[in-house]
Order: sequence, then C-alpha cells, then structure tokens
Amino acid sequence: MKTHFATSNPGKFKEAKMLFNKNNLELEHYNVDLLEIQTDNVEELALYSVRHAFKALNKPVFVEDAGIFIKSLKDFPGVYSKHACYTIGLEGILKLLEGVEDRSAEFRAVVAYKDAENEKVFKGVCRGNITSQVRGRDGFGYDPIFLPQGKNKTYAEDLITKTDLSHRAQALKQLVDYLKLQA
Ligand code: IMP
Repeated sequence: MKTHFATSNPGKFKEAKMLFNKNNLELEHYNVDLLEIQTDNVEELALYSVRHAFKALNKPVFVEDAGIFIKSLKDFPGVYSKHACYTIGLEGILKLLEGVEDRSAEFRAVVAYKDAENEKVFKGVCRGNITSQVRGRDGFGYDPIFLPQGKNKTYAEDLITKTDLSHRAQALKQLVDYLKLQA
C-alpha cells in the first residue's frame, strides 16, 4: 500500500523519498499546506495535522514537524523555527549568537503516521553546533549554519550525511521499519 507524505516542503519530500526507495517502499507526495495549531508541543501539533490530512485524503499518510532548538537562546527558535527563518533569517540567528561561547543546538523531528486502523508517532534528534557563518548551498532552512556533532561540514555542505543522520532521517527510519512490519 502506498504511503503519502503530506508536506508543502519539497526538500523534506526529497529526503523521505530517497529513504523509502532505498527500502523498496512507495512514497507519494501529498502537497498541502497543513493545518497547524499554536502550541509548543511538537507531538501534539503533528498529531493534529495528520488527523486532518487523513480526513482529507483517506489513505495512509504521515506528516513531519521539525525545529531547531538553540541551548543558549533558551531553545529559541524551536516551534517558531519556520517563522524565525522567514523573519530574522540565518543572519539574525548568527547575530543573536555573536560572542556567545555555547553554540550547541539540536534539531528535533516528530513524524506522525495515520491509516484507517493505526496512529503512530516517531521522534528523532540530531545534536550539533551553530557555525559562526553561513556555509554551503544545499538543503534548506537552517542547514547552512548547523554542524552535526563530530562532523566538519554543515548539513548544507554535505547533504548525503544529512540524509543519513538527520533528526528527520532518524524519525523516518522508525516509520520505515514500522511500515515494513505491516507489509
Ligand atoms: P516544519 O514546521 O517542520 O516545516 O519546520 C519548521 C522550520 O524548521 C522549517 O521551516 C525550517 O526553517 C526548519 N527546519 C526543519 N527541518 C529542517 C532541516 O532539516 N534543516 C534545516 N532547517 C529545518
């Protein structure tokens, strides 16, 4: 049975499609602007969105919600990552961190899946540091300023590593394992 990824973000779909294909699973893009509620609970947000997506599509579907949480900024931008990216942007984040020693941050992802019988949530985390300047041109969002732990290239400089290691990859791998068991 085909699974659908409800997202308006082509970058996210591309990453998921690569992983599904590698595991001989079919993935379709359900290109939709998801309904979101105002909450600082990422899991609650993902469940709310997937229930709406399933109601509209009536086929197995998942959504994914992510954000970057910067320790010295008390987890900002977190659930407001999308908004911060469009408003203050990467330069704004780098400015907030000027002269700050602790540049640790983590990406967190929640994948919520729903079909006629089941509802499942999977989570992934990727720790790293914020660079002092923008580096690399691939990927999207905060990729050019995120250096995964133990690596010397940002996500935007090394998309292959990202596809394997990222917060989203970790959550999606759990979904893939789950779907393989269902097949
Ligand atoms: P969303 O709500 O899950 O689409 O993610 C919120 C925002 O977090 C996005 O608009 C991006 O700015 C940022 N984000 C999420 N995942 C990633 C990623 O893998 N790389 C870079 N930025 C990301």
